[in-house]
Amino acid sequence: MALNIVVTREIHADALKLIHPLGDLRVWTEDRPIPPRTLQDWIADATACLTMLTDRVDESLLAKASSLRIVSNMAVGYDNFDLKAATRRGVMMTNTPDVLTEATAELTWALILAVMRNVLSAHRDLLEGQWRTWSPTGFLGTELSGKTVGIVGFGRIGQAVGRRAQAFNMSVVVLSRGGGGDMNQIPRRLPLNEFLSTADVISLHMPLLPATRAMVDASWFSAMKPGTFLINTARGPLIDEEALMTALDRGIVAGAGLDVFSHEPVDGTHPLAAHPRVLSTPHIGSATHETRRAMAIRAAENIRQALIGGTPRDLLNPQVCQK
Ligand code: NAP
Ligand code: GLV
Ligand code: GLV
Repeated sequence: MALNIVVTREIHADALKLIHPLGDLRVWTEDRPIPPRTLQDWIADATACLTMLTDRVDESLLAKASSLRIVSNMAVGYDNFDLKAATRRGVMMTNTPDVLTEATAELTWALILAVMRNVLSAHRDLLEGQWRTWSPTGFLGTELSGKTVGIVGFGRIGQAVGRRAQAFNMSVVVLSRGGGGDMNQIPRRLPLNEFLSTADVISLHMPLLPATRAMVDASWFSAMKPGTFLINTARGPLIDEEALMTALDRGIVAGAGLDVFSHEPVDGTHPLAAHPRVLSTPHIGSATHETRRAMAIRAAENIRQALIGGTPRDLLNPQVCQK
């Protein structure tokens, strides 16, 4: 019997080539997420499914998919997966770590630089005719050099962000539960209150989990130095967005660079995304030609390994293979 493989968005052709020989491919080609009802229909007789972070794979979807062996997310974050439900059902789940680490760290620094030096608002002011002369007191931002960047979640991306700090003559402090990464590379690991009162710019790199949801809340903002910058290229729900609005309005947060939001997509009517001291980008952390190709190939390879009877490289629930 032919194996059915569902791919929920158009992805790089080099990735499709890898899985094409393994079965019948069904690709959702519209430039929007596959509607959940369509995914339910398509997955019913699928052996493998290559998903995006916009696809929710939960118990109710898995219950429809009696032949499913693997769901392969084309993302490193997998908060869109119910991993426990998949494990109960013997379905493998995989993600795409490593290949997007450098791209996401680069976007993080793009946001840090742009927010601290007012790049976007200066550009906007210029277009609006506000550049009347060079001014000794105009368009002043905050110098990066000599400041401290605080990293929350010192995993692959957090460490890649930390490595780049030296180039800007910045110190690094880390809020870490420990265990992640090479501890010898951690310059200063601080307890929460000291971390918040030391960092000039705080950058989030932890996964979205029950324990990290709304972790950045009013209590964090009251412990930060007034004038702290906040960068989020991880997941929107890590931040209590209402508390961030208040902190921006009170000047506790001098500026924020946000690539992710609690409910995506957002547009110019979203009060936080459109706040004058927020620089918003549409979840583009991994969005480079190089990385999106590599992510698609990695996700396809995970499917290929599962379907030829092996253990996928990025298996998230190894218990499934031990059954
Ligand atoms: P990773 O290597 O697993 O690093 C995440 C780190 O978060 C872990 O090493 C851990 O560090 C820390 N962590 C885990 N649980 C925590 C908790 N309960 N409290 C505090 N820290 C915790 O993952 P990664 O590859 O760096 O990716 C990180 C996240 O970035 C992904 O989960 C994804 O959501 C997001 N992301 C977003 C984009 C984008 O397009 N904007 C692109 C790629 C990834 P410690 O053990 O040191 O605490
Ligand atoms: C993107 O957000 C990812 O988790 O890969
Ligand atoms: C600025 O352009 C300077 O020369 O100081």
